[in-house]
Amino acid sequence: NSFEPCDFVLFGTQGDLARRKLLPSLYQLEKADLMHAETKVIGVARQDISQVEYVALVKENIEKFSKEELCQETWQRFSEKLDYVQVDMKNIDSYKAFKDHVDPKRMMVCYFATPPSIFGDICLGLKAAKIIDKSMRVVLEKPIGHDLASSKKINDQVAEFFDESQIYRIDHYLGKETVLNLIALRFANSIFATNWDHNCIDHVQISVAESVGIEGRWGYFDEAGQMRDMVQNHLLQILTLIAMEPPANLDADSIRDEKLKVLKSLRPINASNVRQNTVRGQYVGGFVKGQEVPGYLDEPDANTSSESETFIALKVELDNWRWAGVPFYLRTGKRLPNKTSEVNIFFKRQPHNLFKDSFPELPANKLTIRLQPDEGVEVTVMNKVPGLTGKSSMDLQKSKLNLSFSETFKDERIADAYEKLLLEVMLGNQALFVRRDEVEAAWKWVDGILAAWKNSNEPPEPYQAGTWGPVASIALLAREDRAWYESR
Ligand code: BG6
Repeated sequence: NSFEPCDFVLFGTQGDLARRKLLPSLYQLEKADLMHAETKVIGVARQDISQVEYVALVKENIEKFSKEELCQETWQRFSEKLDYVQVDMKNIDSYKAFKDHVDPKRMMVCYFATPPSIFGDICLGLKAAKIIDKSMRVVLEKPIGHDLASSKKINDQVAEFFDESQIYRIDHYLGKETVLNLIALRFANSIFATNWDHNCIDHVQISVAESVGIEGRWGYFDEAGQMRDMVQNHLLQILTLIAMEPPANLDADSIRDEKLKVLKSLRPINASNVRQNTVRGQYVGGFVKGQEVPGYLDEPDANTSSESETFIALKVELDNWRWAGVPFYLRTGKRLPNKTSEVNIFFKRQPHNLFKDSFPELPANKLTIRLQPDEGVEVTVMNKVPGLTGKSSMDLQKSKLNLSFSETFKDERIADAYEKLLLEVMLGNQALFVRRDEVEAAWKWVDGILAAWKNSNEPPEPYQAGTWGPVASIALLAREDRAWYESR
């Protein structure tokens, strides 16, 4: 359980992810009393710094990246858990340094917050230092590879040393409260559970918009593009939770078996249908929230001839019984007007309209699940306008049933996704982590689209920063008589 002590080893402790997210999240777990008093957090990096310097750096990061003032009492306890080992992760001999820092009798968690290209080196180094055993858990950060072949290679390298039951592949969206709530919403509420298929649902929109640009990560991002950075993982994971069949229980493999079936039923997009079903865009300069921002090709470090996409819109279909004929439209991009992630489920219209006088086109019900920010769930319903007179005997109005998390759960702090996921690793629960076959099924589908784009030789369409992407993404829905919904 959470109170089992462990050696939590953080490879890449000086990297962006560890500094921004992992160390502040571990600190929050300490604050919530969810770390055993004897747990140690061992940072690993190449820099030659002393223990005292390391602790000072961690403090600086937590102060900078936690959204609250440092709690001295928590910091005192947390800082006593910190340790630092200097390791050149590509040099097997240098892992010897480890031996004096970890306790072989304790469970060890190794978080690989490094580029995946050195996951294999780290495994070899741990083996050489003779500290691998069956109780050890390893956490891998996305992206696992840049296509199916490279992802298999990385997974094979790690599998040489660790069993799948020891491997925790992170997709931080699976640690977000609202993403987890999709499971509760669907399976704890019969009104949704029984209406969740092609008989009742017209289409689904999944939109993950960001107002930020590349934020100094041009090199990484340009190799990945929005497809590998966001769709292959976060958007497809959200899609699986919306589309999966009810799992038999909440065990890790029961859930992951169902998610895998969804990924396997994704209809391939290839040269024959790529034009009808996809739109790729790249932002040019514009204004976001009133601030002038440069275009993608004018960002620092940019390679001016890049054709990587920063925006994607897709029409996705699932070839299975439940979702036959129900399109899932996915949209995600950088430098869009604001940061909003949401799922919109559009139900089918009523077969006959009794209210033609006040509403010639009776709108369909819509369920909006706001993943972030202003987390919540909203249902649009039609109501009679109260009153004795009106345009007709039954004047209708569209209204919203709105559940706002911040109002309903006032006293609950919404934890960062990484806090939840790090806790789950320490608890040994794999349900919120992506299994190897899921990653590979996702890559297989994504590879088809990437290959079709490459063959088509068409550059991404420009869109102005601060807009909702290229006009073609609007047309993608408009030609099917639908429109993207923007709740804000
Ligand atoms: C990361 C991507 O996985 O997710 C980033 O690499 C992106 O490009 C980020 O900005 C978005 O995460 P969140 O939690 O801010 O929605």
